[in-house]
Amino acid sequence: MLNILIIGATSAIAGEVAKRFAAEGARLYLLGRNTERLGRIAADLRIRGAESVQTTGFDAKDIESYEQILEKAHASLERFDVVLVAHGTLGDQKKCETSVEKTLHEIQINAVSTIAMLTIIANMMVKQKCGTLAIISSVAGDRGRPSNYVYGSAKAAVTTFCEGLRGRLFKSGVHVLTIKPGMVDTPMTEGMELPPMLMAKPEQVARDIVCAIRKKSDIIYTPWYWRYVMSGIVHIPEKFFKKMSL
Ligand SMILES: NC(=O)c1ccc[n+]([C@@H]2O[C@H](COP(=O)([O-])OP(=O)(O)OC[C@H]3O[C@@H](n4cnc5c(N)ncnc54)[C@H](OP(=O)(O)O)[C@@H]3O)[C@@H](O)[C@H]2O)c1
Repeated sequence: MLNILIIGATSAIAGEVAKRFAAEGARLYLLGRNTERLGRIAADLRIRGAESVQTTGFDAKDIESYEQILEKAHASLERFDVVLVAHGTLGDQKKCETSVEKTLHEIQINAVSTIAMLTIIANMMVKQKCGTLAIISSVAGDRGRPSNYVYGSAKAAVTTFCEGLRGRLFKSGVHVLTIKPGMVDTPMTEGMELPPMLMAKPEQVARDIVCAIRKKSDIIYTPWYWRYVMSGIVHIPEKFFKKMSL
């Protein structure tokens, strides 16, 4: 039976991952900001077959609280077999361009808070010498684009941090998975004008995530075709790239 911690458990993608593990009888521990919604999600996961589901309030802005929250979760589950880090925000890039406060908020939630969480969890997992740490980054971190470079730079920091962490934790038997979704139809992208052909469903992304956790993949693009889309984008020479409106 797997012991699973999900951070940002009210996320649409995380919710679909949780459903898959619940169906296999996992023990789940959910962290999220909206405790009322967390309660409803927990009740649904119990019906779907989870052995147990516990919830605790978590605000990514409150870094001081992380240590205590994570110790409580670890004591309750006894071991982290899988930790999924899923919280994030996709702020308005245009508003960030004229606001230091809004820019730093995006960096704080998407990069600083994730890196702080990972630092604490990594040391817990080194002691247990097993488990998988799965982090949702984004294809947006592969190259800074004018349309979302604030979010993208935060995700790039997470991707690079995870790359180094993977090498460090590998020696302790702990696996680190970097997840790079493309565009996904979730509350995060609601109301945005995005090409419908490129929009994936959270169920599809969750299936890829669970599969990658089982296969102990290092980095996944989900859906798979984003690997090729991003490879094309990354290889455009800067002198042309800077003239493009991507
Ligand atoms: N959707 C996409 O196209 C896409 C693409 C690439 C990567 N991603 C990444 O996938 C992950 C999951 O996002 P999603 O698409 O599933 O969107 P979502 O449903 O909007 O989930 C975002 C989650 O982040 C949580 N969150 C935001 N600010 C928080 C804070 N201060 N403290 C605690 N939790 C906070 C939200 O909590 P509340 O429920 O309380 O708001 C929610 O659970 C994110 O890391 C996102 O960057 C998404």
